[in-house]
Amino acid sequence: MMIQKNAIRLIEEQEWLETAGDALQPAIINTFEAGGDAGQKIKNFLHGTWLGHPLHPVIKDVPIGAWTMTAILDVAELTGSRKYKNGADAAVAIGIVGALGAAVTGLTDWTGTTTKKRKIGLMHGMLNIGATALYATSYVLRKNKKTRGTAIALSMAGYGVVSLAAYLGGHLVFGEQVGVDHTATSEEYPTDFVAVLAENELQNNSMKSVKAGEISVLLAKQNNKIYAIANTCSHLGGPLNEGELLEGGKVKCPWHDSVFSLEDGCVINGPASEKQPQFEIRLRNGQIEVKKSN
Ligand code: FES
Repeated sequence: MMIQKNAIRLIEEQEWLETAGDALQPAIINTFEAGGDAGQKIKNFLHGTWLGHPLHPVIKDVPIGAWTMTAILDVAELTGSRKYKNGADAAVAIGIVGALGAAVTGLTDWTGTTTKKRKIGLMHGMLNIGATALYATSYVLRKNKKTRGTAIALSMAGYGVVSLAAYLGGHLVFGEQVGVDHTATSEEYPTDFVAVLAENELQNNSMKSVKAGEISVLLAKQNNKIYAIANTCSHLGGPLNEGELLEGGKVKCPWHDSVFSLEDGCVINGPASEKQPQFEIRLRNGQIEVKKSN
């Protein structure tokens, strides 16, 4: 436990990861932006906004699963069962293809990280690139009988590196809460109408954060229509009331520019992939009342 904590701290202390992130992150963001609407659609696809869940964790199971199978079949070969040889080679190739998909989706999600999350994410990505390079070399060397032993050794080394990368990926999710839904909370969303603000305190074309019990709710009024969705951004918890009210009933998060529909909380642009909980509204006695929509 102490070793893992020290390793994470060591990564966080690396200044060169900050420098590398400063150079790489805008380059990726600019590439998507240069693609205009198509670039945004591709970015949304890679984030998993269409899935309602980040796409990267789904894809990364392919290389980890395939390369686990490689390790098992390689051990079988080394202990005399040569009939598994072709299966091991195929699993290496499947893993490489899956790793490319995991790299593209992971890099896209990484553009929505900052500070230590960005450093750990970059190290996670570099380890995965290193592991993929080891497996790619292994794949080439597997074809020759004389170099097959070296190829298997490289695959074993790759498995060690990808396991380290997987540990960092797990830390990003469970330790840093990257990729989890930040609107999920142990606090109860109101299931009965609760008054949150006097109607005359919400100006047209403005947004306000109010409380429904312990839940932070975004009230927005545009073209005299009132909207209510959760105020805490599902991506990394940004305060939507400090973002931008966009034409057409949309709000842009101030932290990483995710855009949500105020009508139903759906993600219009990532990096968020989980929708915002939405509230029903009623006006009673000059008060705006909300309750969580089913
Ligand atoms: S917190 Fe990242 S887009 Fe809102």
